[in-house]
Amino acid sequence: MLEEYRGQQINQRSMLDEANIRSDVLVSGRVVELLGDVNELSVLELGSGNGKVARMLAQRGAHVTGVDLIQEQVDIASANSPRGIAYVQADYAEVKLPELLQGAKFDRVIAVMAFFYSGSDKIAQALVNVKKLLKPDGVFILGTASPYRGLKKDGFDYFQEQESDAVLPSMTNEPFKTRYVHLPLQDLLTQCLAHGFVLSRLIEPHATAEELQRYPQILSEEDLLRPDYLILEFKAPK
Ligand SMILES: C[S@@+](CC[C@H](N)C(=O)[O-])C[C@H]1O[C@@H](n2cnc3c(N)ncnc32)[C@H](O)[C@@H]1O
Repeated sequence: MLEEYRGQQINQRSMLDEANIRSDVLVSGRVVELLGDVNELSVLELGSGNGKVARMLAQRGAHVTGVDLIQEQVDIASANSPRGIAYVQADYAEVKLPELLQGAKFDRVIAVMAFFYSGSDKIAQALVNVKKLLKPDGVFILGTASPYRGLKKDGFDYFQEQESDAVLPSMTNEPFKTRYVHLPLQDLLTQCLAHGFVLSRLIEPHATAEELQRYPQILSEEDLLRPDYLILEFKAPK
């Protein structure tokens, strides 16, 4: 799976890929597995970045649309998109997103390592969009950083929504300054449930012993023992 994911990377190796290397294995790969057979399904990826996940899904026969906030990411993804993936520059929390996507409805909506830049207000608006964009029997998969990550820091107040500075690297422009937002699990899940999403799977992806052997430069013993990521799968609200 990782080899395939790497194969999707563009020639110019981006710092973003470098930074995400563990999540390549533990989140993106797992989300693609979880989606299963996507042949002929319409899939919307929110926060599609340089399009690695989108391309993997397109290769499996999905009709993919990617949305990303950063025009540079959209340009890179589009330039490397021979398989007719549609990319749109937009904020996933933008009220007009369904309009920008011309009223399209999707079988699957995914957000992979893209929601942890947003606080609860923005996530609420993004969830309103996901609700509008999913077909009635659609599935929404959210792969994100584990809220338990912060517990490694001394004096961390887990129950407090809080921001820390983050930088999204750029290959051509100034790095894009943003923030990571920590949300306690109960807040994130309560929001999703309040919007009517029905939780069907909660996965705390961690490495298998086989993956540890296979990717010793990427994964460590820690990845066997602690969850750094979280994947939530929801059925569309009725
Ligand atoms: C860590 S990358 C993940 C890319 C891709 N999903 C993957 O797994 O390879 C996060 C992406 O989310 C995008 N992003 C962050 N906030 C966003 C927002 N509010 N709306 C749309 N995209 C956003 C960033 O521009 C970035 O490209």
